[in-house]
Amino acid sequence: MEALFQFLFSPLPTSAIISLFALAAATLFYLNTRPSPLRPPVDLKCQTVGVKDGARKSAMLEDNNNLLSFYDDDGKTFYEVFQRGLRVSGNGPCLGYRKPGRPYQWLKYKEVSDRAEHLGSGLLHKGLKPGSNTFIGIFAQNRPEWIIGELSCYTYSMVVVPLYDTLGPEALVFIIERADISTVLCDNQTKAQTLLQNVEKGQTSVLKTIVVMDTFDPELVERGQKCGVEVVSMQDVEALGKDDIQKPIPPKPEDLSIICFTSGTTGNPKGAMLSHENVISDAAGALMTFESSVTLSPSDITISFLPLAHMFERVVQVVAYGKGARVGFFQGDVRLLPDDMKALRPTVMPVVPRLLNRVYDKVQSGAKTTFKKWLLDFAVERKYAEVKDGIVRKNSIWDKLIFNKVQESFGGRVRMMVTGAAPISPVVLNFLRAALGCQIFEGYGQTECAAACSFTVPGDATSGHVGVPLPCNFVKLVDVEEMNYFASNGEGEVCIKGRNVFKGYLKDPEKTAEALDEDGWLHTGDVGKWLPSGVLKIIDRKKNIFKLAQGEYIAPEKMENVYVRSGPVAQVFVHGDSLQSCLVAVVVPDAEILPSFAENLGIKDSIENLCKNKEIKKAILSDMTKLGKEAGLKSFEQVKDLHLHPEMFTIENGLLTPTLKAKRAELKALFQTQIEQLYASLQ
Ligand SMILES: *[C@@H]1O[C@H](CO)[C@@H](O)[C@H](O)[C@H]1NC(C)=O
Repeated sequence: MEALFQFLFSPLPTSAIISLFALAAATLFYLNTRPSPLRPPVDLKCQTVGVKDGARKSAMLEDNNNLLSFYDDDGKTFYEVFQRGLRVSGNGPCLGYRKPGRPYQWLKYKEVSDRAEHLGSGLLHKGLKPGSNTFIGIFAQNRPEWIIGELSCYTYSMVVVPLYDTLGPEALVFIIERADISTVLCDNQTKAQTLLQNVEKGQTSVLKTIVVMDTFDPELVERGQKCGVEVVSMQDVEALGKDDIQKPIPPKPEDLSIICFTSGTTGNPKGAMLSHENVISDAAGALMTFESSVTLSPSDITISFLPLAHMFERVVQVVAYGKGARVGFFQGDVRLLPDDMKALRPTVMPVVPRLLNRVYDKVQSGAKTTFKKWLLDFAVERKYAEVKDGIVRKNSIWDKLIFNKVQESFGGRVRMMVTGAAPISPVVLNFLRAALGCQIFEGYGQTECAAACSFTVPGDATSGHVGVPLPCNFVKLVDVEEMNYFASNGEGEVCIKGRNVFKGYLKDPEKTAEALDEDGWLHTGDVGKWLPSGVLKIIDRKKNIFKLAQGEYIAPEKMENVYVRSGPVAQVFVHGDSLQSCLVAVVVPDAEILPSFAENLGIKDSIENLCKNKEIKKAILSDMTKLGKEAGLKSFEQVKDLHLHPEMFTIENGLLTPTLKAKRAELKALFQTQIEQLYASLQ
């Protein structure tokens, strides 16, 4: 309001006068060009229906209880889906890649399919047995050869096991041993060396063959020979297979397709076993949910930059191949992603909240003057009003005046985005739905249900929820007594059952039993709530609950989320246990803010020394406590003392998971001494 007041009653700069005219023009234009709204596939006020045992399903399945297994009759496995893509695209472009500064080049569907047959035949010649008992590692960044390698496995019913760097060297060895991986396809020499190192150190002896995609030094072959590993180029394996092509032995839907290892916050990684049906049904469920708003065809292009080792990206690509669409790979460096998007001009984009937050921040901080901010807010408001009416477009006057730039930063042709892997803030989501003029869906799920188990419905412009169960699964909520969540109140732990729910963890019956109950329900550990419109909202996390000595339950992440809003605080780990009656914390100060924060207290020193300073600690603690009070934390929920640690928790130092969650057991072990000291001084 203040901005409006200033705008109306202070002398106008020329730019403001021009903008005023633009505003008037916009109103006219808006009235003239407004297209007709999209029709939602279900009644938005009643998006799910109950089935037995308190479970719910998508209202799209209203008339039957048959969960979706596949989208097309001729696409029930990844292998079939790809062959279908070949057919419907008329052997169109399939996998795209580029060299720096060059346009995209494309491999066609048939070429990819042929090369997969050659590579697969080559692997069989090297002694691998076709069938779902053969597990093949893929240790590479996203690139066409990843898909060629994957498809080569499926062409002969073999199983893919993605390997990735952020798991750390120990996990890598663990996976190779557990999955008995004798052959790994890797992208370059560096990765091959990492693998060889493990063999040389005697940590694993099951690895026999490394197939390398890029060119490499001949010494690598020698080095391999010395420890009994054959190092060979992918080109050579393909050539070997091409000379004597083996007849494809395609998998059945129930056959294993991929084993996706995920690192938990504690212990060894767990290998989620997913069948072809698991993956295909998940893609089909998502497709059925959004298809009324976006029809995909061979002319669609998706950009591949989220790790293929995670199921989110895998499922997106399954959707693309089934429609004969194209997948263009980024160059492998996120810093070059903007350039790749301009060159590729994708129409479909999987994204994660972190990326969208950056876009949001950038647009917001670009509006530097009060007037520009006001205009931006006004434009967002106008466009969001349209979104609420089911109108999603890029051709309003607001797009031309204001949003054109941010749309162009994605290449200018995006019709659909899917965000997943972490919750997105409603503010950011609403803003982008208005600004980007494309459908933005939020999916929620986990590796154990292939990727998503719920998806937002086209036409539902509300945010802060994760939509409806996919048509391939049911969702039910189960009591979490210790946290006061009861299914009878429409709240509880989110449990999933359906075609996409995994077959268990590889050779780990104990962890499998923790995740899957006897009736086949997957327990996610997330706490959800059914909203009146029938959509699911994730409201809490079941894990990481402990009791303090006096019997109060504590969910430390709740406090961490509050405390992290304190200016001088960059990261915070809240600790307590049933032997103590209060909480303490380890805080990593924000290195950019701490010096000025300290100067306000008349202290000037290095970050290291500031971390040891009692006065600084007191001031930070008091700021955190104040925030805690404002957020309604109870007294026993507030930390009573803290330790300042100058170094960030990162994936590299093993204190965060690849999805940036705190590894609580590791943090606790690392700070054991400091924690004990804190408690000792509180006595
Ligand atoms: C190998 O690939 C990784 C990314 O997967 C990259 O970071 C590294 O620089 C590459 N090494 C060489 C020698 O090209």
